[in-house]
Amino acid sequence: MTSYKTIKDVAVITIENPPVNALSLAVREGILDGLSRASKDDTVCAIVIIGGGRTFPAGADISEFANGKAFTKPLPQIIEKIESTQKPIVCAIHGTAFGGGLEVALGCHYRIASTRSKVGLPEVNLGILPGAGGTQRLPRLIGVWLAAEMICSGKPIEAVDADAKGILDDLVEISSLESVQTEYDKLLDAAITLALRVKNHSLEGKRVSQLKVEPVSDFFYEQLALQISKNARGMNAPLQALKAVKASAMFPFKEGMQREQQILGRLFVSSQAKALQHIFFAERQTMKIPGIDMKKGVPIKFVGVIGAGMMGSGIAINFIKKGIPVVLIDAEQEFLDRGVKAIEDYFKGRVKKGKTTRFLADRSLGYLRPSLHYEDLSNVDLVIEAVFENLDVKKSVLKHLDEICKPQTILCTNTSTLDIDQIASATNRPDRVIGTHFFSPANVMRLMENVAGSKTSERTIASVMQISKTISKIPVLVGNCFGFIGNRMLFPYNNQANALLQEGAFPHDVDKVLYDFGFPMGLFQMSDLAGNDIGLHIRKAQGIVDPSQRDPNERYVSTTADKLCEMKRFGVKSSKGWYSYAKGSRKGRPDKEVMDLIVENSKAEGFVRRNISAKEIEERCLYALINEGFKCLEEGMAYKPGDIDIIWIYGYGFPPQKGGPMHYADAVGLKKIYDSILQYGKADPKTSAWKPSKLLEQLASSGKKLAKYWTKKLKAQSNL
Ligand code: 3HC
Repeated sequence: MTSYKTIKDVAVITIENPPVNALSLAVREGILDGLSRASKDDTVCAIVIIGGGRTFPAGADISEFANGKAFTKPLPQIIEKIESTQKPIVCAIHGTAFGGGLEVALGCHYRIASTRSKVGLPEVNLGILPGAGGTQRLPRLIGVWLAAEMICSGKPIEAVDADAKGILDDLVEISSLESVQTEYDKLLDAAITLALRVKNHSLEGKRVSQLKVEPVSDFFYEQLALQISKNARGMNAPLQALKAVKASAMFPFKEGMQREQQILGRLFVSSQAKALQHIFFAERQTMKIPGIDMKKGVPIKFVGVIGAGMMGSGIAINFIKKGIPVVLIDAEQEFLDRGVKAIEDYFKGRVKKGKTTRFLADRSLGYLRPSLHYEDLSNVDLVIEAVFENLDVKKSVLKHLDEICKPQTILCTNTSTLDIDQIASATNRPDRVIGTHFFSPANVMRLMENVAGSKTSERTIASVMQISKTISKIPVLVGNCFGFIGNRMLFPYNNQANALLQEGAFPHDVDKVLYDFGFPMGLFQMSDLAGNDIGLHIRKAQGIVDPSQRDPNERYVSTTADKLCEMKRFGVKSSKGWYSYAKGSRKGRPDKEVMDLIVENSKAEGFVRRNISAKEIEERCLYALINEGFKCLEEGMAYKPGDIDIIWIYGYGFPPQKGGPMHYADAVGLKKIYDSILQYGKADPKTSAWKPSKLLEQLASSGKKLAKYWTKKLKAQSNL
C-alpha cells in the first residue's frame, strides 16, 4: 500500500492504494515503516510523501469506520509521528488532498501542490469532523476565520486558493492538457528539489502544532454559527466542528486535540454520521446493478434532443458543457430560438458569476446545433425526446425517430410517469429504447431516473448509465411502473398530506411538520412552486378527477387541489395557490380563501374536523412514503434500498442527515412503522396506500433490518 525509494538522498514514500489512496490501516503502517527507515538511514537527508496514481490521499478509509479498523494505529498518531520526525518532510499534493489526506499534509513540514489539485476537509459531509488534528492545525496555519470556514462548510478549494490562504509553501504549474503521469513526475521533481533545498534548515516554525493561534472575538463564532444553522439546517457536525475550532484558540495544542477527539467520538456514533456515510456509499453504488455489466456500454459521442422548451434546453446544456455535440430540434423556429436563447443566457450567467470563462462558454455553445429538421438526427448515437407529457405524442415522436436514426441509435424518452414499453412499442427497436427521467431544472438537478422497459437491452442500459455519469448526473436505474420510483412514492405521501387537510389540518400545518423534519419545504409549498396544474394534469391522465370515473372503494383526497386549479390558483406563477404570494416573492402566506375552501370541502365530504398532532402528520406522510418504497423493492422496481434513498435525497429534498426514507425506516424500526401502518389503515380502510408491503411485513415480524437483509440477498444473488 506504500512504496519506498531514495532519489538523490531523499526518501520518497509513495502511497499506493487506488483509486483514491484512502488512508487505510495498511497505508498508515506503510507510512510508519517509511518514516522509520528514512530516520535510521544516515544517507537520507529529507523525506517526500506523495500519492501514487491520480491523487494524494482523499481521506481516511471511510469503510474502516464501521469495522473499527480506524482505531488501530489511528491517523492522529501517524501524523504526530510525521510532524516530530527530525528530518524535513515535504508533502507533494496532486489530485484531491481531502480529509485525513490534508491532515497528513498539515503534519508535514512543507507542502507543495500541483496547480490542478484541490484540498479540503469535507468530513462534516460525513457527519463527523476532521479528527486527525485538522481542527487544531489548520487554524494555527491560516487563522481561525479561514480555517473555520473551510472546516464547517466542508467545501474543497483549488490549490491556487490554498496557496493564497497560506496552506501551501509552493505551487507546481501544470496545465489542463498535461497527463496525470506528467503531473506526478513534475511534482515529484519539484518536491525533491525543495527537500534538498531545506535539508539543513531548522524545523523551528515548521511544526504546525507549535504555532500560536490568534484568538478571534465571540462575535465571529456567533455569526458563523448563525450562518451554519441557515445553510446546513439540521446538521450537527458543522456546529460541533466550530466548537473544536474554537478550542484551538482557547487551549494549547494537546488540550485542543483532546477536545477534538471528544467531539469526534460523539459525532462518530451519531445517527447523522451513519446516515451521511450511508449516502456516500449509496451514491457510488447506483452504478452497480446485478446483471448489468457497465463495460458493455457503447460510447456516446453525438446526441440529439427533441423539444427546445425548458426541459429540452436544460438537457442539451448538460451535454454541450462536456463537449458532446447536440442537435437541438424543435418544430417551430420561434420555439427553437427561445430555447437557444435560454441556453446562451445560462452560459452568460455563468460567465458573469465567474463560474466559467467566456472562452469556455463559447466553446460549449459551439457544440450546439439548433435545427428544425429531424433528418439532422440521422447520425446521432443517442436521442432524448423532451416533448409534451402525452403517450400518443411521445409514441409518434419515437416512431418518427425510429425511421430516421441509424439502427444503433439509442432512443430515450424523458417522461416522469408514462409506460416505457408502450412508447417503445411504436418502434422496431424496443431493445434500444429507455426512459431518461430528468428532474427540473435539468441542467441543475443531478438526479436521473433511467427507466428500463421489459425489452431494454443490457447494452442500452449500460450506455445510458455511463453517459449519465459523464454529464455529472447521479443515475439510478429503475423499473417501469407508473411514476417509476420517485413520483410513485410521491403519490401516497402527497395523498396523505391532502387527506390531512380533509380531516382538520391546513397546508401550513402540514408544511411546518415536513420543514421541521428537514425537508427544504413542505409539500404544499412545493406544489405551489412546481405549479398545481401539474398535479391536476396527472390526476386527469389517471382518470380520477371526474367523480363518475373514480373507484368508489378508494378515498379521493384532491377535491380542494382540483378546485384551486379551477380558481386559477396555480401557485407561485399566478401569485396564489395553496398560499398567496406578494408579486415576485416565493414566500407564501396562509390564505383565508383557501382555508375557508378546505373547511367547506371537509364538511361537504362528511368529515368532522379535528386537531391533528405534528406526530400524526409526520407519521402519516412519511410512513405512506416508506410503505410505497418497500413495495417498489418487493416488485423489483427499485434494485436497492440505497437507490431509493438517493432518489429522494437528490430529487425530492429528503434530509440527507436522515439518510433517505429507507435508511430512516431502519432507524425508526420496521416493526413500529408496520404497526402504525396497520393502525392508520384500520382508521382509513379506503386508502390503499395503507395496505402494508409484504416485504415490510416479513421484516417487521422477523425483527430484521432492511439494509442488512438486502445486502445479504444481493450477495446470495451474485454467488448464484
Ligand atoms: N474511503 C474509502 N473509499 C473511498 C473514499 C474514502 N475516503 N473516497 C472514495 N472512496 C471510494 C469510493 O467509494 C469509490 O469506490 P467504488 O469504486 O468501489 O465505488 C472509489 O473510491 C472512487 O470514488 P468516487 O467514485 O467518488 O471517485 P471520484 O473520482 O468521482 O471522486 C473523490 C473522488 C473526490 C476523492 C471522492 O471520492 C470523495 O470526495 N471522497 C471522499 C472524500 C472524503 O470525504 N474524505 C474525508 C474522509 S473522512 C476522514 O478523512 C477522517 C479524518 O479526518 C480522520
